[in-house]
Amino acid sequence: MKVAAVKETFPGERRVALVPGVVPTLTKAGCDVLVESGAGSGAGYTDEDYRVAGARIVSRDEAFGADCVVAVRTCGACAESWCHDEHRLRPGLVVIGLCDPLSGPEACRQTAEKGVTLFALELVPRITRAQSMDVLSSQANIAGYRAVLLAATTLPRILPMMTTAAGTLTPAKVLVLGAGVAGLQAIATAKRLGAQVSAYDVRPAVKEQVQSLGAKFVELPLETGSSETAGGYAKAMGEEFYARQRDLLGKVVADSDVVICTALIPGQKAPVLVTREMVQRMKPGSVVVDMAAERGGNCEGSVADDTVIVDGVTIIGPTNLPAEAPVHTSQLYAKNVVTFLLHLLKSGLPDVSRDDEICRDTLVAAGGQLVHPKIRERAGLPPLDQPAAPPT
Ligand code: NAI
Repeated sequence: MKVAAVKETFPGERRVALVPGVVPTLTKAGCDVLVESGAGSGAGYTDEDYRVAGARIVSRDEAFGADCVVAVRTCGACAESWCHDEHRLRPGLVVIGLCDPLSGPEACRQTAEKGVTLFALELVPRITRAQSMDVLSSQANIAGYRAVLLAATTLPRILPMMTTAAGTLTPAKVLVLGAGVAGLQAIATAKRLGAQVSAYDVRPAVKEQVQSLGAKFVELPLETGSSETAGGYAKAMGEEFYARQRDLLGKVVADSDVVICTALIPGQKAPVLVTREMVQRMKPGSVVVDMAAERGGNCEGSVADDTVIVDGVTIIGPTNLPAEAPVHTSQLYAKNVVTFLLHLLKSGLPDVSRDDEICRDTLVAAGGQLVHPKIRERAGLPPLDQPAAPPT
């Protein structure tokens, strides 16, 4: 099988789907590895690095001529730039990457109509045997780290306590909202930098993890028994729950120098946890990093890819923190992709077994149509086993 890594086209995207270090794994598995010229430049890898590792450097057209194209961003995750590749898509081509299928089902539908077999890496199930393929986790981990660095360099004070001849400086208070992958790494990073860290999450199960990192778990008197799905993700709660949550969080937020927001329900608009009124109660100079800004934000007033100052509080809304550490995020992404691809090959790629949970959950398009039930629903299409309504 010919596997090609293409150069990313999304503005500001510096990651690459394959790094030279993973090329030998693919060649040993019998793949012929192609890399579009310049694909690794954003992450510091030259064409020569790939050549030495055993890949062939090709043009974009040649890369799309391979059996399988791997990318960081495709379809909906690539916005308008994906349509520039539309003429390169053809029946039988396998495409693997992030494609934002839950928010961008239309781009996936158009890709499906070209006969492409499309796998969405966002949909890798959070199960033990798929952990090494989980790109959302590998990327969110580094994003959580970067979010704290961003806050630390924006804050007009330092994070650690410092005892000096000129007096003692008290540590900054960092509050992390949402203690999933990004949140736990944000907690660990803020602790390493010497801040006084507390964290809150709706899932009571994470309390122990927060405490094991040395942070304080903020307990709110809310009924959270049904807040977790079988897959380990948070469930959407009613507006009444969120209103009560905001009420209870007000004092903790007001008392914090930094708030890192990471609360998420997969495929949904981010819940608002910090209101404008709560921001007003924070000390001037405080910083909010809203990692959920791309999904509408956990903090009222945050703007995707922008920094705004509200009543002296800086609110930052970065949407692509992984691209700011492209060497390591690419390294992890590439390892995830290769493990996933080898799993697909074992499962009979291109006609993967739908009995396998990993293949079934990630397969978005095959045979000219969207095949993933949830993505079909998002695209307004009937389930595949249900005949379309007769024309009236
Ligand atoms: P995750 O699913 O591992 O964690 C999200 C956490 O939020 C879960 O622990 C969940 O229980 C919690 N949560 C949900 N609703 C909540 C509520 N009402 N109150 C408190 N906690 C709540 O997700 P992950 O991978 O850590 O990603 C977190 C966020 O960061 C997402 O919005 C994701 O899109 C974003 N992200 C942003 C990046 C950027 O560059 N800005 C890069 C990577 C991820």
